[in-house]
Amino acid sequence: MQDPKYVKDAFSDIADKYVFTNHVLSFGVDILWRRKVAKMVSSQKPINVLDLATGSGDLALEIQKNCPKAEVIGSDFCEPMLRQANKRGLERTVLADALHLPFSENYFDVVTVGFGLRNMADWSEALSEMFRVLSSGGYLIVLDFSLPKGFIGRRLYRFYLHKILPVVAGLITGKRSAYQYLGGTIESFPSGKDMCSLIESCGFNCTKMHPLNGGIATIYSAKKK
Ligand SMILES: C[S@@+](CC[C@H](N)C(=O)[O-])C[C@H]1O[C@@H](n2cnc3c(N)ncnc32)[C@H](O)[C@@H]1O
Repeated sequence: MQDPKYVKDAFSDIADKYVFTNHVLSFGVDILWRRKVAKMVSSQKPINVLDLATGSGDLALEIQKNCPKAEVIGSDFCEPMLRQANKRGLERTVLADALHLPFSENYFDVVTVGFGLRNMADWSEALSEMFRVLSSGGYLIVLDFSLPKGFIGRRLYRFYLHKILPVVAGLITGKRSAYQYLGGTIESFPSGKDMCSLIESCGFNCTKMHPLNGGIATIYSAKKK
């Protein structure tokens, strides 16, 4: 659970370097993860899609490309990040807090959130708000970091996450502390079965998880009953 003011300020500070830094730190695999989510979304043939915590729009843009007939809205509470999304070609953006969305209930066919839920002040409240705006039978996709299962994989990942990543990101953005914060949020964020339980406790069912690259990230999908 995170402090919203800290989160907003941290992303405002790195907004113009966020996309490039991500691709360097993940060796480009984050692009493939978002592509996979966009394919899952397009398989639902949605009329409308809400991408929450859209940031500079990477996931929403991929969905827009894969679902050319759908109305795709990217929403975020950080204006400088949304400005980047607009600049990069995201057609519809809404400045809003994901915990208090300005949309009526049962409106969206699909809600996605990529690397965003982890940064929110209250995960259950955010998931309940996603449940509210989804139509009955609607589809939720959460993409976020997780910890790999094996002992060695987890140790290596933690070394990269806490020792290498903040240094590299600090050199690119000049904001090393924002990336020290990243490691902390990943450690405290539920993953695997715990995340499925959290999603289901907010009303969803049929939760599935799809671990990516040995479990360093996971896609969770669920349906609104
Ligand atoms: C790591 S970025 C993810 C951006 C993008 N989804 C991606 O895939 O790269 C996290 C984003 O979550 C947004 N965020 C965090 N808490 C939020 C909230 N309560 N409401 C809306 N956006 C929020 C931040 O402003 C930031 O842009």
